Amino acid sequence: MHFKTIIEPFRIKTVEPIQHTTRAYREEALKRAGYNLFLLKADDVLIDLLTDSGTGAMSSEQWAGMMRGDESYAGAKSFYRFESAVQEITGFKHVIPTHQGRAAERILFGSTLKPGNMVLNNTHFDTTRANVEYRKGTAVDIPISEAHHPELIHPFKGNMDLAALERHLQKNHDDIPLVMITVTNNSGGGQPVSMANIRAASKLCHKYGVPFFLDACRFAENAWFIKTREEGYAAKTPLEIAQEMFSYADGCTMSAKKDGLANIGGFLALNNDEWASRAKTMLVITEGFPTYGGLAGYDLEAIAVGLHEVLNEDYLHYRTRSVAYLGDILTENGVPIMQPPGGHAVYLDAKAMLPHIPQLEYPAWALSLALYLEGGVRSVEIGTVMFGLHPDGSETPAAMELVRLAFPRRVYTQSHVDYLAEVILYVHSLRENIRGLKIVEQPPALRHFTAILAPLS
Ligand code: F0G
Repeated sequence: MHFKTIIEPFRIKTVEPIQHTTRAYREEALKRAGYNLFLLKADDVLIDLLTDSGTGAMSSEQWAGMMRGDESYAGAKSFYRFESAVQEITGFKHVIPTHQGRAAERILFGSTLKPGNMVLNNTHFDTTRANVEYRKGTAVDIPISEAHHPELIHPFKGNMDLAALERHLQKNHDDIPLVMITVTNNSGGGQPVSMANIRAASKLCHKYGVPFFLDACRFAENAWFIKTREEGYAAKTPLEIAQEMFSYADGCTMSAKKDGLANIGGFLALNNDEWASRAKTMLVITEGFPTYGGLAGYDLEAIAVGLHEVLNEDYLHYRTRSVAYLGDILTENGVPIMQPPGGHAVYLDAKAMLPHIPQLEYPAWALSLALYLEGGVRSVEIGTVMFGLHPDGSETPAAMELVRLAFPRRVYTQSHVDYLAEVILYVHSLRENIRGLKIVEQPPALRHFTAILAPLS
């Protein structure tokens, strides 16, 4: 008998209480936080979907691994276990631990980028873009055109536009130190990239002598989508698929806070000896000695075990299904979302849901506040507050107004998701009453983290 219910493939050994608050309490909490969900106390949140980064639950094996952590300054056993876990999956020669993904980005671009260079990506994540721009480079996003249309269904909406890639390479290859593909494409809705696209992008880059890298934060979720959606991969294991993905690349950056199933950590891995040697020099200056790179020995152990667990088929099946489960309920009830649901998050389409709120009154931000007010749910706006402000102080509407509901790994159960669906459907029924906001105070960059807002009456 083949039973159809997909269960959480774990049982729970430690629990962390979460508390209900009243709507009146949350109304006050929002006021105190300047109508910015980043400024709430986490204790005032019932279900926290702000991010899937570093928020996952570790397994008993990971905790056991932490007790084995070797805290030697140099040459610790934990480093070699970490290195071999990364090498088994990626095959890269040099493995450089960092305290998280953005440190790997800083070190990679710090050792390869010259002012005026260009980096191409399907879509740069904010920190990746910031690290390119900080080095006076230009970060150019070239996703396929389907990526810009939330309602369109495409199995690999994270793919890179190969024609655009070739155009840029033909014209500018001398000024492009590397090309990157982000798997899955977080800023584009957590959408996967096909093996065919990775293979073709790699081939094009190599034709022009340009190194090809993966931003591998969610490599295992991407591998699962290849297994279930791309012809020829159904019989392969997620590990084999991941190995093939990495085989086309010259290196990767990784945040182990996502598919490393750890609370902190990351790495840069690559084949080029000269780049690795420059990166290690930068590592020693700001992160730490090359066998710990800003991490404790026990963190390296947790990541080594996590990288193995994240490729388990039952885990990946449950993981992608729990996100799709929410997406399906919302779609059946007419709530507009980025289609199809991504690997780590459901993205609500606030532009479609709240057409009465102009973009410069921040519809996605308003929707994220309503989810908190009505149900104690914290999400994150990916819209005009996040992307609308430019270095010259001008403001323009973002391409999309999304609210991301990111699922921490192995943390919430199906009843949490059922509750979440109920809250979203309720807020959807009230949508005509939701009002926009104005910004009262903001910093000159990355304003979404600290801006103070006020509701428009
Ligand atoms: N690349 C991608 C695709 C990411 O999603 C992130 C982080 C990073 C790089 C940077 O990694 O946080 O370890 O420094 N994303 C988190 C998020 C913060 O909420 O999506 P980091």
